[in-house]
Amino acid sequence: MQQKEHWEHVYSTKPTTGVSWFQEHADQSLRLIADTGVSLNAAILDVGGGTSTLVDDLCAKGYESLSVLDISSAALNAAQKRLGDAAHRIQWIEGDITAIQLPQHAYDVWHDRAVFHFLTLPEHRHAYVQQVLRAVKAGGHVIVSTFAEDGPMQCSGLPVMRYSAGGLHAEFGISFDLVRHEMEEHRTPSGGIQRFVYCYCRKQHA
Ligand SMILES: C[S@@+](CC[C@H](N)C(=O)[O-])C[C@H]1O[C@@H](n2cnc3c(N)ncnc32)[C@H](O)[C@@H]1O
Repeated sequence: MQQKEHWEHVYSTKPTTGVSWFQEHADQSLRLIADTGVSLNAAILDVGGGTSTLVDDLCAKGYESLSVLDISSAALNAAQKRLGDAAHRIQWIEGDITAIQLPQHAYDVWHDRAVFHFLTLPEHRHAYVQQVLRAVKAGGHVIVSTFAEDGPMQCSGLPVMRYSAGGLHAEFGISFDLVRHEMEEHRTPSGGIQRFVYCYCRKQHA
């Protein structure tokens, strides 16, 4: 099954609160975004946002320039339905992050929770990093979280990569300064624990 078909199937058949990656609130992401110190009109992109409530909470905090990108239209539709009128204040982008053409130097903050780790092919990871280099402003903030080295080997039935903070930063290369990393123990709706690593990097100015 192609990636898009896989994710359309997931979001068309499973309740959004029952998927293993569900968080009632993306608290760690919210704190990391707040800690960047960007203003409320900063352009923030949630890559592979799916049906995450991150965008609801950012909206409620007053952030005004929010975009959510996902390969699955079913996910974006579900998120829009949940948000109701507030959905009109958000830019929704359906596409594959390794293939879509995002605007150049458009985003102050790039956020990705649990998407990069699905890129098991080096050419897809390369395309992703090229995308970050193109789409994020100089000096912009890049927050990426993946399964940690001792995290699960699969997610949603798909194989994933697992990373240490150093290994994840190394995927992005010398154009990104690692500001800090954090771990997370995510409790899934069925009660399991999944270890995540979050890397917060700044894209260099030059
Ligand atoms: C494990 S879920 C995480 C969703 C969300 N970030 C969260 O934390 O709740 C992975 C998400 O990435 C999306 N996705 C997978 N591959 C993608 C790709 N190549 N481009 C864009 N989105 C993708 C899926 O549709 C799904 O919504």
